[in-house]
Amino acid sequence: MKTSEIRQKFLSFFESKGHQIVPSSPLVPGNDPTLLFTNAGMVQFKDVFTGKDTRPYHRATTAQRCVRAGGKHNDLENVGYTARHHTFFEMLGNFSFGDYFKRDAIAYAWTLLTEVYGLPKEKLWVTVYQEDDEAYDIWAQEIGVPRERIIRIGDNKGARYASDNFWQMADTGPCGPCSEIFYDHGPEIWGGPPGSPEEDGDRYIEIWNLVFMQFERDAQGTMHPLPKPCVDTGMGLERISAVLQHVHSNYEIDLFQSLIRAAARETGCTDLADNSLKVIADHIRACGFLVVDGVIPGNEGRGYVLRRIIRRALRHGHKLGQKGLFFHRLVADLVGQMGEAYPELAAQQARVEQVLRQEEERFGETLENGMRILESALAALPAGQALDGQTLFTLYDTYGFPLDLTADICRERSIPVDLDGFEQAMAHQREQARAAGKFKAAADLSYDGVATRFDGYDHLEGEAAVTALYVDGVSVPSIAQGQQAVVVLDATPFYAESGGQVGDTGLLAGASARFQVADTQKIQADVFGHHGTLEQGALAVGDTVRAQVDARRRADTMRNHSATHLMHKALRQVLGDHVQQRGSLVDPDKTRFDFAHDAPMTAEQIARVEAIVNDEILANQAVRTQHLSYDEAVAGGAMALFGEKYGDVVRVLDIGFSRELCGGTHVARTGDIGLFKIVSEGGVAAGIRRVEAITGHGALAWVRRTCETLDQAAGLLKAQPAGVPERIQALQQQTRQIERELERLQDKLAAAAGSDLAGQAVEVAGVKLLATRLNGVDPKSLRGMVDQLKSKLSGAVILLAAVADDKISLVAGVSPELTARVKAGDLVGAVAARVGGKGGGRPDMAMGGGSDVAALDGALAGVPAWLTERLGAA
Ligand code: ALA
Repeated sequence: MKTSEIRQKFLSFFESKGHQIVPSSPLVPGNDPTLLFTNAGMVQFKDVFTGKDTRPYHRATTAQRCVRAGGKHNDLENVGYTARHHTFFEMLGNFSFGDYFKRDAIAYAWTLLTEVYGLPKEKLWVTVYQEDDEAYDIWAQEIGVPRERIIRIGDNKGARYASDNFWQMADTGPCGPCSEIFYDHGPEIWGGPPGSPEEDGDRYIEIWNLVFMQFERDAQGTMHPLPKPCVDTGMGLERISAVLQHVHSNYEIDLFQSLIRAAARETGCTDLADNSLKVIADHIRACGFLVVDGVIPGNEGRGYVLRRIIRRALRHGHKLGQKGLFFHRLVADLVGQMGEAYPELAAQQARVEQVLRQEEERFGETLENGMRILESALAALPAGQALDGQTLFTLYDTYGFPLDLTADICRERSIPVDLDGFEQAMAHQREQARAAGKFKAAADLSYDGVATRFDGYDHLEGEAAVTALYVDGVSVPSIAQGQQAVVVLDATPFYAESGGQVGDTGLLAGASARFQVADTQKIQADVFGHHGTLEQGALAVGDTVRAQVDARRRADTMRNHSATHLMHKALRQVLGDHVQQRGSLVDPDKTRFDFAHDAPMTAEQIARVEAIVNDEILANQAVRTQHLSYDEAVAGGAMALFGEKYGDVVRVLDIGFSRELCGGTHVARTGDIGLFKIVSEGGVAAGIRRVEAITGHGALAWVRRTCETLDQAAGLLKAQPAGVPERIQALQQQTRQIERELERLQDKLAAAAGSDLAGQAVEVAGVKLLATRLNGVDPKSLRGMVDQLKSKLSGAVILLAAVADDKISLVAGVSPELTARVKAGDLVGAVAARVGGKGGGRPDMAMGGGSDVAALDGALAGVPAWLTERLGAA
């Protein structure tokens, strides 16, 4: 039965029982701002249950689109790695608003499953809430489910009503006890019924949840009875389809197979079992419908969840080798699969494609760069160490890698991530942004006094009169000690931030006042605001102050600014005339320069730029400033920035071989710059590169640190600094040899352990028997070991047990020639029974488990007797 028929049959069945077929509501809940996404069929009826809203019907049925990513029910990180997790899924449900209750809800569910869908009754198990005798009796007496297949589940999560059989939409809202229906996928699959120690296995799978809505939980946790008891049920369409299509994983159903093939087509992947295809097939559904329902990728709330899902899908495409745009092309396939059931999807195909395509373009450029940063961070990471918070944050902040994306990549390689470190880096940045924002917020203060004359090109100190004072954006006549304020002067040597150069810091000293300037920002084009704190005395409008710029900081900033001009020119010489400035930040520590260029710079190009700039510095030419008309300046070869506005008269700076229009402050001679060094180069957006460089004190400190590191390395290697690379090569070679030797020895050990184990086999009535407990073995490797032992020992019966976290795992194997006489399933069953568990499987290979660890050794000791009896009987 195809997924679309299963959906249709469900709705028709309930329609025939007097239910109104109601269309799916959008994924963004219209009636609940606290809920991130619609996560169950009942969401659109929430207020109907509580009596706040009424409908013209008392019975309804829906196929509801749901997203469980972000918020209370969040499955994002598991998607692709398990058989049944999705970000997006469809929930089939029937609802009674004060009409029928438990009896009919149970009877309808049973009839639909066994008669309409034709599931064998003996494959179905049910659970009820511990105290719910009424539901228990309906299942046992009216439906006739054998009592051993009805299981009571209590408050198994540590608090009243915290139970697998008590359902709630969110921390508040309608809720109630529930009864779940499970499907038994058969003994070939390991796992136990609900409530048993092996319930996590894949054998018994919940397919339908019948919720008997009785309460509304308020924010204090108090339960209020609903006006009338109601019914809310939910059956995952993908799960029931897997059952009806006789497949085990949801990803094997028709609908997913078709999307997986489409994902394979678009990524060029040929292995249809690849997990990345599942991720993409799942994510196109969530992303497609989220866009249909009005969510746009963004940096907050729902938009950010959508962005995270898209980026996770793109990353998996990238992993499969698809470096271009592909994701939006799957929208057509999605419409092919689901457009009929959801006409709103078909109607918006073009828009959905466009939104996804834009987001792909936006991320595509940074994905590659981010992956490079991540790969090199991971390569440098010592084994067993977590990826540090700063790298996680840089990837997040600069490359747009959501945290769960980086975590996903690390998880594939079993590398932990430092989440606390990430939070710290994030908090630090927020703090900085807040501090900066405080100043920027003051940028539009109202001022109608005289303009500020800027004297800072030639002087770092000067007398000035206070023309205005502001506290918290409000003009005040005076300020007192301790107050934060903005001071406006009639003249100042302080440079106000512009043209990429940061504002000056320093001191305004009055008769008694000491005002510490932390930043200088323009209030109007020619009115400068000095932002800071009055540390001492009092200051009033009209006072005279001595303005003193922090000279060292300014000198460092000027070196970086002048070097920026030289670098700009050198970049054009080395890379070509297409290099154009796209942004810059010059502060005392560095110059950061963004420019148009398509490819990463090579090490050789970087070295050439450095050499050209340093030659200009060594030539020690005087810097010349002229005021010219704009036309004259440009005719004279000055570089003007495209898109900038210039006045009629412009300031033209000749620094070494460069000529630029610039309002910034600069060194007197190129030699003042000292030393120039590029410290990083990378991409920031499509066709935009970013270079960071240092000069003067910063460059000297860099040289000193680098030499110290090299000396340290040389010391550790007992070599001269020049001999370090050679020593490292030798060590690497040695390590490779040791690793090879280690591998050889490990293989030898493993082989020896295998024959040891084989050597422990005993003869029982002519059959080799090995029944033993292995310590420190991962339960997952038991199966492989049994396979190996089976091929090593012919005519053997093997049972291996391992204990982890107080759970016993058992695997039994029987050589093919013996399966007629002994079944692996029987053996594992017999042992499991003695350790309080169950087991089963194929005649030649079976699995099981148990929990009574103390009984394990006795159970193993009983195996020879069991086998003797079995062989005797056969
Ligand atoms: N609202 C119930 C669930 O989601 C049916 O499981």
